[in-house]
Amino acid sequence: MIKRSFASDNNAGVHPEIIKAIKAANEGHVIAYGDDPFTARAVKLFQKHFGRDIAVHFVFGGTGANVLGLKAITKSYQAIICAETAHVNVDECGAPEDFTGCKLLAISTSDGKLRVEQIKPLLHGIGVEHHVQPAVISISQATEMGTVYTKKELKTLASFAHEQGMLLHVDGARLANAAVSLGASLKEITADVGVDVLSFGGTKNGMIYGEAVVFFNPKLADDFKYIRKQGMQLSSKMRFISAQFEAMLSGNLWRRGPEHANRMARLLAGELAKLSQIKITQPVEANGVFAVIPKKYIPALQKKYFFYVWDEEISEVRLMASFDTSEDDIRDFVKFVRKTVK
Ligand SMILES: Cc1ncc(COP(=O)(O)O)c(C=O)c1O
Repeated sequence: MIKRSFASDNNAGVHPEIIKAIKAANEGHVIAYGDDPFTARAVKLFQKHFGRDIAVHFVFGGTGANVLGLKAITKSYQAIICAETAHVNVDECGAPEDFTGCKLLAISTSDGKLRVEQIKPLLHGIGVEHHVQPAVISISQATEMGTVYTKKELKTLASFAHEQGMLLHVDGARLANAAVSLGASLKEITADVGVDVLSFGGTKNGMIYGEAVVFFNPKLADDFKYIRKQGMQLSSKMRFISAQFEAMLSGNLWRRGPEHANRMARLLAGELAKLSQIKITQPVEANGVFAVIPKKYIPALQKKYFFYVWDEEISEVRLMASFDTSEDDIRDFVKFVRKTVK
């Protein structure tokens, strides 16, 4: 068997229950582009988890979900406020800027989380024609640094955004990891706290591909079907995305994988923390572990285990657990790290 590494939850395969659902959906013909019973059932499940009054549309990938969700709620003279570490800022090759025309106003954070006090100074140009007009606060939940916004923090950001006439967008590629971390339902950390638009991840949670853009005010989605098609994210064989979401959301699969992955991340961090040469740098609140490992050991470690160096300057690495990470994987990795850094 090919070794499991800790580089990304995207490196994991597909959950067997998802494969089963895809296989079951592979019978006969249904109407293409989403006018099919699988999609109708999946949309109902989204309504069950996120509330009845939503509009939801499926897309292929996370970048597509973020970019098109943001495009639906912005104009090109506006700005999107985000953390410097946000996927929209550093990992989407400028697609948010290209597709929306908006300027991204990125804020440096210690832990991937935005706070109201950091946002306020960016709002002085509101109403001034020489300046871009901040229209959206975009946050990631869980964050790219493995931290999780509390319900209170989310509520504070949403209320502030709304007071300023802005909207709150959430990149929820790992929303399920955040929900289980908080012991909350999906609705409690989105609709109930005032989120306006959400990218809901499926891929990192064991789907082959497929993400959803959820609008908590359906009026915001009025043009989305055109935006999605023009944005090349309309799947003709939509039933195969929908069948995966149906499998995810009809039982507890949506939270089983993240519960396990989060637990594995905590275990990994706990074991690494016992090594004096290694320093855990972020609270482990979801499925990511950030650690400073002295530079001289990294090549030897990467020879056997692939992972990313997150911050070259301080030799901080990112290690991710997935739904299929096992305790043996962690034991073997930690044993190898211990031997390498000795
Ligand atoms: C926070 C976050 N958002 C979105 C994505 C989705 O990206 P992709 O377009 O690769 O599916 C990722 C994937 O790494 C991510 O980590």
